[in-house]
Amino acid sequence: MSATIRTETGSTHAAFLGVGAYRPSRLVPNSEVVDAIDSSDEWIQQRSGIKTRRFAGEDETVVSMAVAASQKALDAAGIDAQQVDAVIVATISHLIQTPSAATAIAHALGTAQPAAFDISAACAGFCHGVALANDMVRGGSARHVLVIGVEKLSDITDPTDRGTAFIFADGAGAVVVGPSDTPGIGPVVWGSDGEHYDHIRTPDWRDVLAAGGGMPNLSMKGNEVFRWASYGMAKVAQQALDRAGITADQLDVFVPHQANNRITDTMARALRLPDTVRIARDIIDAGNTSAASIPLALDRMIADGEAKSGDLALLIAFGAGLAYAAQVVTVP
Ligand SMILES: CC(C)(COP(=O)(O)OP(=O)(O)OC[C@H]1O[C@@H](n2cnc3c(N)ncnc32)[C@H](O)[C@@H]1OP(=O)(O)O)[C@@H](O)C(=O)NCCC(=O)NCCS
Repeated sequence: MSATIRTETGSTHAAFLGVGAYRPSRLVPNSEVVDAIDSSDEWIQQRSGIKTRRFAGEDETVVSMAVAASQKALDAAGIDAQQVDAVIVATISHLIQTPSAATAIAHALGTAQPAAFDISAACAGFCHGVALANDMVRGGSARHVLVIGVEKLSDITDPTDRGTAFIFADGAGAVVVGPSDTPGIGPVVWGSDGEHYDHIRTPDWRDVLAAGGGMPNLSMKGNEVFRWASYGMAKVAQQALDRAGITADQLDVFVPHQANNRITDTMARALRLPDTVRIARDIIDAGNTSAASIPLALDRMIADGEAKSGDLALLIAFGAGLAYAAQVVTVP
């Protein structure tokens, strides 16, 4: 008789144990981007909600910003770097194809050689990372997982492109996911609509080189993405609530990906969120930081007292792919 493989399970429940964020020092108001795209502060605010954003300097890299955010998340969780079993980094702007940013971040944090890898799910990346971390802690493959969303999109945004130059920005956010006595992360609702694979994308490197070089800048079919996100994502968010057994009036906080305030408004209306639900509006002075936007927004809400420990928060992230993921979590 052949031997049977022994399996392991982890904690019954997992939760966010701590949140941290890093915002680059340079504030970039709309007035700084409008000339190159023949736009105005008024147009940008009206169409997106953005007043200002932050661009990282030369010394603020994907790795350094992620390390700073992660250290704050570890401190908030009361977890030493040596206790981290896995580091998951959601990013599309680490411009070194290999190795992953995660291995460098893990090393810089002083961890004890954890599993470390990057995931590519664009603006939906953070919620994908949370879903993986939840399953890893409950499945027994890790006890403490650092989930990081980090972007330096200013590197891959064409300042003369009217459709993207005023939207994308830089920053980092992180959470520690670990064991919990009570459920702290609800079932993920995730998926992808690959039929619209090229609605938001960077070019093939080979085409960039054939055209004489330059950066692989993002391009976006803004109208199509707007419609898809505004009308499709509320359904996904509702499914995440239903799967977690939470009703809109039991919710305390709504933290959607900070893509555009008008998308957030449409989703909030479709979900019939009562006035008591605090809604993240970090985009106003952070811009769209892709994978970093949800942990940045959540960190701000905790700092401002808008999200309190034990509050129920609905997270939903969506973007290139078109990929999406949503779950209900408790605020640490
Ligand atoms: C990008 C976005 C703000 C553009 O807003 P919009 O209302 O769709 O704008 P449109 O492309 O329909 O253009 C409307 C008008 O504004 C003009 N316009 C477009 N870009 C402009 C700019 N940057 N500044 C000023 N005017 C602009 C257009 O020329 C057009 O003018 P017209 O009516 O005279 O023809 C919007 O499509 C959007 O938010 N998309 C989704 C973005 C997103 O979430 N991305 C990330 C997903 S992860």
